[in-house]
Amino acid sequence: MPTPVRDILVTSALPYANGQIHLGHLLEYIQTDIWVRFQKSRGHRCTYVCASDAHGTAIMLKAQSEGITPEALIDQVKAEHERDFAAFGVNFDHFHSTHSEENRVLSEMIYERCRDGGAIKRTVIQQLFDTEKGLFLADRYVKGQCPKCDALDQYGDNCEVCSATYEAYELINPVSTLSGTAPELRDSEHLFFDLPQFQDFLKTWTTSGRLQPQVSNKLAEWLDSGLMPWDISRDAPYFGFEIPDAPGKYFYVWLDAPIGYLASFRAYCDQTGMDFDAYWNADSQAEVYHFIGKDIVNFHCLFWPAMLDKAGLRTPTGVNVHGFVTVNGAKMSKSRGTFIQASTFLQHLNPECLRYYYASKLNSRVEDTDLNLEDFVQKVNSDLVGKVVNIASRSAGFIVKRFDGELGNVDANPELSAQFMNAQDRIAELYEAREFSAAVREIMSLADAANAWIAEVQPWVIAKQDGQDAQLQATCATALNYFRWLMIYLQPIVPDLAARAAEFLQVDTFSWNDAGHALTDHRISKFKPLLQRVEMDSVNAMLEAGKASAAPADGGPTESGPTESGPTASTVAPLAPECTIDDFAKIDMRVARIDVAEQVEGAKKLLKLTLDDGSGTPRTVFSGIRAYYEPAQLTGRLCIVLANLKPRKMKFGLSEGMVVAAGDDDQVFLLDVNTDATPGMRVS
Ligand code: MSP
Ligand code: ZN
Repeated sequence: MPTPVRDILVTSALPYANGQIHLGHLLEYIQTDIWVRFQKSRGHRCTYVCASDAHGTAIMLKAQSEGITPEALIDQVKAEHERDFAAFGVNFDHFHSTHSEENRVLSEMIYERCRDGGAIKRTVIQQLFDTEKGLFLADRYVKGQCPKCDALDQYGDNCEVCSATYEAYELINPVSTLSGTAPELRDSEHLFFDLPQFQDFLKTWTTSGRLQPQVSNKLAEWLDSGLMPWDISRDAPYFGFEIPDAPGKYFYVWLDAPIGYLASFRAYCDQTGMDFDAYWNADSQAEVYHFIGKDIVNFHCLFWPAMLDKAGLRTPTGVNVHGFVTVNGAKMSKSRGTFIQASTFLQHLNPECLRYYYASKLNSRVEDTDLNLEDFVQKVNSDLVGKVVNIASRSAGFIVKRFDGELGNVDANPELSAQFMNAQDRIAELYEAREFSAAVREIMSLADAANAWIAEVQPWVIAKQDGQDAQLQATCATALNYFRWLMIYLQPIVPDLAARAAEFLQVDTFSWNDAGHALTDHRISKFKPLLQRVEMDSVNAMLEAGKASAAPADGGPTESGPTESGPTASTVAPLAPECTIDDFAKIDMRVARIDVAEQVEGAKKLLKLTLDDGSGTPRTVFSGIRAYYEPAQLTGRLCIVLANLKPRKMKFGLSEGMVVAAGDDDQVFLLDVNTDATPGMRVS
C-alpha cells in the first residue's frame, strides 16, 4: 500500500561564517543529507534548508582584522562553505544567510510577539568595557586571575583549574584579550527573554517524545535546577540586527540564528511558491526536524521552542542530536594533522568514501563517532569496492560481450532475489530511525550473500562450457540485479556512485520503489570502473597537508644543535627551568588505586577520585580529567598521586593531592603504573 506523501522540512545547524568547514561539521551535514535523500527517494516532499550564521562579535572582529567589511567576509565564507558542501554531496534545497532581509523581518516579528506576550524583560547589568576598542567584552575576551583559587590566565566565565564559575568582572586584574588593557566596569541595560516563565511548558515539551531519551534526561536535570532569564541583547558596536525598540542594542547572534532556519525556508518559498505558513502555523501538519550537535542542545530545546510557542508558531517535530567526531580515538588536533578541513580532504580523497564511513558508524544516539583512518581505508575498500562494485565488474563483461548488453528475463536464484526485494522495508525502517550503521550492515549482508552465491556458481566457469549460454546470461543478469538493489539501498549514502551505476545500467535514477521489481529485458552499457580503492598513502598525504596548514606562521620551532656548553651543561636544552635533586626530593609521589571515580555536580571538567594510597585512610582528589575519561574507565586502576601537595579547599570539597598525567592542549593521559605495583609504593 503506498504510504501517504509527507511534508517534511529539515535543517542542519547553521555554520558560523568565520571559519572553514571541517570533518567534524561534515558528520552533521552528511547525516542530515542522507536522511533527506532517503525521504526524497521514498517520494516524500522533503525540503532541506540551511544558512550561514553570519552575526556576532567574532565575525565583526575577524572582518576588522582582515581589513574588510563583515558583509564581504560573510559573502566570501558563504561561497566557500557552499562549495565544500556541494563537493561532499550535501544537497540543500536552499542555503541562505542570517544576515538577510527575510531574517530581519522574522526576527523582529518573533521578538515583538514575545515582547507583547510579556516574555521580554529589561535589566541593567554590569559588564567590562574595553575603553581602547570601545566595546563591551564577552567573557571569552577577558582573562585574569581566578577569584576562587588565584590561578592565573583564566577566562571570564570559569576557571580551568578549580572549575569555579563567576562573572568576568570578579576576575582579579582582568585584562581585555583584544587590546591588552585593563577594562572598566560599566552599566548597561540589557533585554532578557524570560525563560523561567516557560518552565512548565518546557517540562512537557522536552518529554513529549520529540527528543532522544539521553537529551530529555539531560534537559530534565537543567529544568530541575531552575532556568535563568536569557540575555538576548548586545550593545553597539555589534554585527547583527538592531532591536526595533532599543536603539543602539542588537539581537544577540543566538537569538536570530535559529530564526535563520525560518528565513532560509521563507526565501525558498518565495522562489518556489511553497506555502510557508503551512509549515509554521501553530496547527501545521507538516513535520519539522532540526539536526544538531550535542553542544547546542540548550539553544534548540529550551530557548527555541519557548520562543516559537510564544510567537504563536509551531515547534519542531524533533531535534536530532549527534555526538562529536574524534579522529583515531582523540579530539581533532592541529598538531597531529587531524583537524582536517573539508577542502584538504577533497584534495586527497573521494568525498563519498567519507559519507560511507560516517554512515557505517552513525546511529540515532548522542554518541561520538570515531574516524579511525586505517579502519576507514579498510572498510571502504572491502565493502564498497570489494563487495558491491565487484559484483558488477565480475558480471558486466559477459553480458556486454556475449549478449550485446541484454539482461533477458530469467532469474537464476529466485530465493536470494526475494531476499533482496523483501529487505526494502527493514532497511527503510532503519534509515527512517537514523540507524544508518544498522542499515549498512543489512545492506552489506545482502552483498555478502550475493558474493557467496557468485563464488558458488562461478559464471567464469559456465562461460567456458558449451551450450550454457542461457545459464550464463541468467546468472550474470541476476548478479547485476543484486548490484542494482544494493545501489538503490545505498543511494542516500553514496549518491554519486549510484548515479554512475545508473548510467552503467542505463536507467534514469534509482528511487526506493524501484526495489519492488527486478530489471529484466533491458540493455545495459559497457562497464567502466565505478570506484577507486582508497590508498593509505593518500590518507597520510592528507594528514601531512593538515599539519602543514596548521603550522604557525613562523614555521614553528627550528632544529638546533647543542649550544655553547659550560662544564655541567647537558646536550639537551632544558624544556623548563632547571631544579636540583634536593628540589625533587621534596616531592612525594605514591602509587595509589582509584577505588571510586565519580562526576561532580556542577563541575564540567572535574572528576572526584577516592584513592587508596596504602595509608589506610581514603584520600580525595579532584582532577580536571572529566573530558578525557568516563568514571567507569578509572575505577580499580592504579595511578600516581602527588601525595604531599598542600591540600586545597575547592568549591566541591577538599582536594588532597593531584594525580599525575601527561597531556597537551588536546589530550590528557593518566600515567600507567605496572599492575604488580601496590598502593603506597614510592615513585622516584
Ligand atoms: N552557528 C552555530 C549553530 C547555529 S544553529 C541555529 C554553530 N555553528 S558551528 O559552525 O560551530 O557548528 C555547526 C554544527 O556542527 C553544530 O551542530 C556543531 O555541533 C557541529 N559540529 C562542530 N564541530 C563538530 C565536531 N567536531 N563533531 C561533530 N559535530 C560538530 O554551532
Ligand atoms: Zn580557580
